[in-house]
Amino acid sequence: MSARRTPTAGARGWPGRGGGQAVVLDPPPMWRGTSVQVCGLHPFAVGAGTPAVGVPLGRTLTTGSTLCCDPISWFQRAHLISNPSAFVLGRPGLGKSTVLRRWALGLAGFGVLPMVLGDLKPDHVKLGRAIGAQVIELGNGRGFLNVLDPGEARAAAEKLTGDRRRAILADAHGRRRTMVAALLTIARGAPPSDREESVIDAALRELDDNLGHVPVLADLLAVIKTAPESVRSAAVDRGNLDKYLEVTEHLEASLYGLVHGGRLGEMFSQPTSEPIRRDKPVVFDISGIDEGETDLQAAALLACWSTGFASVAISQVLADAGLEPRRHRFVVLDELWRVLRSGRGMVDRVDAITRLNRTVGVGQVMASHTMSDLTALPDEADRMKAKGFVERAGMVVCGGLPPSEVELLRGVIDMSDAEEKLLAGWQDPPAWDSRTGAEAAPPGRGHFLVKVGGRPGIPFVLQLTDAERAVNDTNERWHEQSRISAGVSL
Ligand SMILES: Nc1ncnc2c1ncn2[C@@H]1O[C@H](COP(=O)(O)OP(=O)(O)OP(=O)(O)O)[C@@H](O)[C@H]1O
Ligand SMILES: [Mg+2]
Repeated sequence: MSARRTPTAGARGWPGRGGGQAVVLDPPPMWRGTSVQVCGLHPFAVGAGTPAVGVPLGRTLTTGSTLCCDPISWFQRAHLISNPSAFVLGRPGLGKSTVLRRWALGLAGFGVLPMVLGDLKPDHVKLGRAIGAQVIELGNGRGFLNVLDPGEARAAAEKLTGDRRRAILADAHGRRRTMVAALLTIARGAPPSDREESVIDAALRELDDNLGHVPVLADLLAVIKTAPESVRSAAVDRGNLDKYLEVTEHLEASLYGLVHGGRLGEMFSQPTSEPIRRDKPVVFDISGIDEGETDLQAAALLACWSTGFASVAISQVLADAGLEPRRHRFVVLDELWRVLRSGRGMVDRVDAITRLNRTVGVGQVMASHTMSDLTALPDEADRMKAKGFVERAGMVVCGGLPPSEVELLRGVIDMSDAEEKLLAGWQDPPAWDSRTGAEAAPPGRGHFLVKVGGRPGIPFVLQLTDAERAVNDTNERWHEQSRISAGVSL
């Protein structure tokens, strides 16, 4: 006689006649809590997909859990990325600058000093003021930035000896030369020749050796005009002054324009009006520059980047020597496309200025609209280098992008079809809200996908906190206008 099996309840309840198996299985309710709170619920606790290390960015769209992520913490503490940098891409108005602001704010809370190198809108000034940053205003008639000013490099060099001293002076010299070349590139629409660069280099050395004060561009022009021996040999004039004058004619004309308020106005012609501070967050406010002056905008951005990175380099060398506390900076380079489109040779300049590597202790984020900003450059070498900005970034954060853009991105990072669809859905135009008679927010606003190498992306939505809202509205001028047209008294 076989023993009768006792029925047992399965996952859906009691099987068989008289039983009560459920057809639909309700997913169990889920709660989130810290490991301290939920440890008693073992074995029903599961870990979140990403570590809770970094600035809280928003909710993950797949699990609803909080995504904590920023380039510095993911590099330094979570070891998830290979260098502390990020590239943010997305169509206009979908919230790229908002992500940068969240990072800046969160990292400021962690003791990192944010540094916004060139705010054109202004997107970051309000936040800067709210966190006690030094806000440096630049623009024609607002503030000057002398690209020949070695800043604190000299003072720092005096505190140092040996290799460190030499390195800091060499760095300051290289940056000044790069910046003069960059200004000439923008003013002319083409980079200076090798010979001209050598002339600039020699003239700068001449100034350093013989001028008692910090040089301005007018001094550089004067030295080139006086044709000292060292500058003549850099021009390879073979002892012939006429040849020298021929070689430097174009250079003189371009420098004359920079000194006397040519295409780039007078912003770079006078001593720096407000030197950068190393112990505070910094925001360069260049929003006073007119929208139409694209060349000046690009030049101002580059000059801010150069000054900012120079100050970071000095801080780090002084910290290495134990003369200053180690401060980590989070450098924000928003609106990269404006610089790139301003002419041939700009990619090189950006590359030269921003190649601060992880050993320098700086986190960096760049933002641009689309990959086409980088791949539509006329010069093949420039295109390759510009793509390198995305390739080298530790993480890429993508907002709404059309499929054609994802195709271009695929050349640099792996994207699945599902991810492509997600990004395409986020770039849809906003719907018309008939109740309020206004456009609703675009569906992709605040939605982003974090990609780290070939790993599957983490989609998340950034929700603004009340404290952030007041410093976050970059559509403010539009609201004012709609209030006026709606007849609301202000
Ligand atoms: N997550 C969000 N929740 C609510 N509002 C948001 C969010 N993200 C952005 N916004 C709002 O959308 C507007 C545009 O945002 P933001 O300036 O960050 O976009 P952007 O992508 O940087 O635009 P652009 O390409 O023009 O620089 C702002 O008014 C901002 O307050
Ligand atoms: Mg922006």
